[in-house]
Amino acid sequence: MIFHQMRTGGCLSYIVGCESSCAAAIIDPEEGLIEHYLAALAKDGLRAHYLIDTHTHADHFSASRELSERLRIPVVMHRANPAPFVEMHVDDGEMIVLGDLRISVMYTPGHTIDSMSLVLDDRVFTGDTLLIGGTGRTDLPSGDPDMLYDSLFDGLLRLAPDVTVYPAHDYKNRESSTIGAEIDGNPRLAHKERASFVELMRTLDLKAPRHLTEALRTNRSGGQTVAHLIASAREKVPFMSMREVRRRIDTAEDNLIVLDVREKDAFDRGRIPGSLHIPRGQLELRVNDELKDPSQRIVVYCEFGVISTLAAATLKELGFDRSVALDGGFKSWQEAGNPVEVAD
Ligand SMILES: [Fe+2]
Repeated sequence: MIFHQMRTGGCLSYIVGCESSCAAAIIDPEEGLIEHYLAALAKDGLRAHYLIDTHTHADHFSASRELSERLRIPVVMHRANPAPFVEMHVDDGEMIVLGDLRISVMYTPGHTIDSMSLVLDDRVFTGDTLLIGGTGRTDLPSGDPDMLYDSLFDGLLRLAPDVTVYPAHDYKNRESSTIGAEIDGNPRLAHKERASFVELMRTLDLKAPRHLTEALRTNRSGGQTVAHLIASAREKVPFMSMREVRRRIDTAEDNLIVLDVREKDAFDRGRIPGSLHIPRGQLELRVNDELKDPSQRIVVYCEFGVISTLAAATLKELGFDRSVALDGGFKSWQEAGNPVEVAD
């Protein structure tokens, strides 16, 4: 078996591959590691066949959907997961076959309703059901401490003591544990009585994870994160430096249109001299009247350089092929001591 554990902060993800068939799966892929997975697969001569998410993550962004599109392979999740981009649903007692490898599915709800664990030979990927010295929380959407109790005490903890535990999270840089070590040393599992365990889980009082709503929204629907939306706009447009814009304004070279997409009050307070003004919110409605020549060169700016990137990408989609975004925003334009024009 070819095996890699990859870490981003406290998130752990895994590549497992069959040496003889070169078939691989990525377990709990994380958005920030996409290029790393692809590089690791290529280096080992593996081809990914499945992207497996152990559950709907509430605290980080799954890369499953994007990798699924790039690699044209299915996302696998438990049957209880409703996300529209999940092509293969699995349930307790089923197996995902990867060449010679057999990944067995254990339904282990509790952290979320769609949590599953994956048993592969001498190891188990426990998602957030069982962590090293802890368990997943049960206070986020679809969590249930009673279900977690069953999943642990009637499920995972019945595996052989020497089975290696690979969780989806660990914040103390530990790589793995074993079922036996967790039974002996995991303080939450010391609460062997159901009532006591449930009471413990109900009274943990944890902080909500950062990005909770956005992670749940995007991981459930396959929608884009805001960062992803901006990154894909950045990939579509060229940029122009402030210095270059300044030079072209000064020399009136090639009739560059400098387009301010901020709101009116900001535009009135101060703008790059000679700017045309179309607020971002009105862009699509006004381009036909205000930008009659689609072959003209347009440099778009806003306050900080983010909205202008989205606006320049929109202009490109509309056929304004020579739209570029200012590298930076009006704020840095002004701070750099460049000329500013104010409304009369
Ligand atoms: Fe989780």
